[in-house]
Amino acid sequence: MATSGSFRNVIKVTTHVLQEMKLKGEKIAMLTAYDYSFARILDSTGIDVILVGDSASNVMAGHSSTLPITLNEMIYHGSSVVRAVKRALVVVDLPFGTYQGNSKEALNSAIRIMKECGADAVKLEGGKEILESVDRILSAGIPVMGHLGLTPQSIHKFGTYVVRATQPDEAAKLVEDAHLLENAGCFAIVLEKIPARLGGQVTSELRIPIIGIGAGSDVDGQVLVLHDMLGITLEFSPRFLRRYHTLSEEIRGSVTSYINDVKNLDFPNEKEQY
Ligand code: KIV
Repeated sequence: MATSGSFRNVIKVTTHVLQEMKLKGEKIAMLTAYDYSFARILDSTGIDVILVGDSASNVMAGHSSTLPITLNEMIYHGSSVVRAVKRALVVVDLPFGTYQGNSKEALNSAIRIMKECGADAVKLEGGKEILESVDRILSAGIPVMGHLGLTPQSIHKFGTYVVRATQPDEAAKLVEDAHLLENAGCFAIVLEKIPARLGGQVTSELRIPIIGIGAGSDVDGQVLVLHDMLGITLEFSPRFLRRYHTLSEEIRGSVTSYINDVKNLDFPNEKEQY
């Protein structure tokens, strides 16, 4: 399957390739994946970055937030994805409770992700308050992607999933945090659910790539949760979500046909048996 762009022929996407893409003005396409089969399909399309997001807690495990997923569970998902991927950069989320407030634990968590998954990088949510953890992980040579704006691991602090940084003080803190993360050495930052104008401002002020999810079009790339954009999950419909398919309906249709075929003695037919 063909995609346009001068980086299409890159054999392996690295953090340096993403930096070059920003410099050349080629948008970065990123999606989540949590298992081998989907990751293999995604990688064959030429997607630039695959995020093993802690949204696995919602879409794979059925929790109402990202908080319950454990480091071992993220390692299970991450290693399944890495086994499938040859080209895309694979980033794995550090889950809630494995990096906040204790930079040594943060480093141990990141090392486990890198060693046991074979991931290319880790992603952490937050700015100034997690800077010590970011510094320590980076000092071990592990690439770090930041995540600012709506940070789902802090949902109990926010109390709601509404758009973040609409007020000047929160917007100023976000810009300050983005600079702190860049200066620390992060290779990219995800900005989630913030005003488009602010997304554009951060993108033009920073040298590293900015990947948006509900952060407008003036960013360096976009990310969506795979199960949302494919229409496997239907209950989540924020404005930023473009649904490319209603796969849940297709699956329901196929399974209903199978049930009917079994019940009507139509399956298996003569050719489908030994
Ligand atoms: O966990 C996740 O899927 C994410 C994306 C929403 C960026 O962090």
